[in-house]
Amino acid sequence: MNKSDLIKVAHLLKSARHVGVLTGAGISAESGIPTFRDSQTGLWANFKVEDLATREAFECNPDFVWQWHVARRIMLINTFPNPGHRVIAWLADAVDQLTLITQNVDGLHQAAGSPIVHELHGNIKRTKCFKYGHPIEQSLADNHPDSPPECPVCGSLARPDVVWFGEVLPTKVFGIANDATIHADLFFVIGTSGHVQPAAAFGLMALESGATVVVINPDPDSAIPGGMFLQGLSGVVLPQLVKHGWGIPASVFQDQVSTRKF
Ligand code: OAD
Repeated sequence: MNKSDLIKVAHLLKSARHVGVLTGAGISAESGIPTFRDSQTGLWANFKVEDLATREAFECNPDFVWQWHVARRIMLINTFPNPGHRVIAWLADAVDQLTLITQNVDGLHQAAGSPIVHELHGNIKRTKCFKYGHPIEQSLADNHPDSPPECPVCGSLARPDVVWFGEVLPTKVFGIANDATIHADLFFVIGTSGHVQPAAAFGLMALESGATVVVINPDPDSAIPGGMFLQGLSGVVLPQLVKHGWGIPASVFQDQVSTRKF
């Protein structure tokens, strides 16, 4: 990680009027959740996410798609936010305005204490019905690990409340994300490969609207031309930004207990 870039971004962060933050699976990697591109192991190793997370796949084999999501939900039991999530939660109070947009469905930003989280791809801990999107009690879903139960209202099958490939993003969240790309003066793109639209375009859109765009990722391929790039793990880079901007030691964000307010 380039130290002068780190210090520059820390100062920009401290003086920013509106900070936009887009996160992807990488921010949860240090919590032990495999990223999307790394996650297909075991029974699902031969299936691409893009072939499982679709309405067509569910219609064709609902049990299989349901079990895949159940396995992903089980993986989240006993996972906790890491320093990257905690810094973002802390920043919500520390900067003038912060808009947090996540592609993640794991709820770890909320667990870290982020007051408002705009979930672009839904949340895997919620369930709705396939046909009309009626909300379904999570306890009902949890009691059916092998096959999706029926919706008590309309009888169609239960499905996870996540956005599958080919589905439209929630309009309100998309609008908020769009606004953030227009109005933020500093826009972070953290832990995302940029493979999935429209989120992949947000960094570029923010850049075109005049924001300083900062990518945080260990993979140099994720850098956005014209933006800044802080190479490294988000759980390491983000605490360093706070250290250089506010003088708060990185170790503060390691502590599970003091996650929320300082
Ligand atoms: P990916 O799995 O495509 O990319 C994860 C990114 O995180 C990669 O660029 C890694 O280099 C980076 N990364 C890994 N560890 C990291 C760390 N500790 N700190 C920072 N970055 C790290 O995940 P997404 O880009 O989030 O969509 O995937 C986008 C969407 O594709 C997902 O929301 C999902 C998926 O298929 C739907 O389900 C609709």
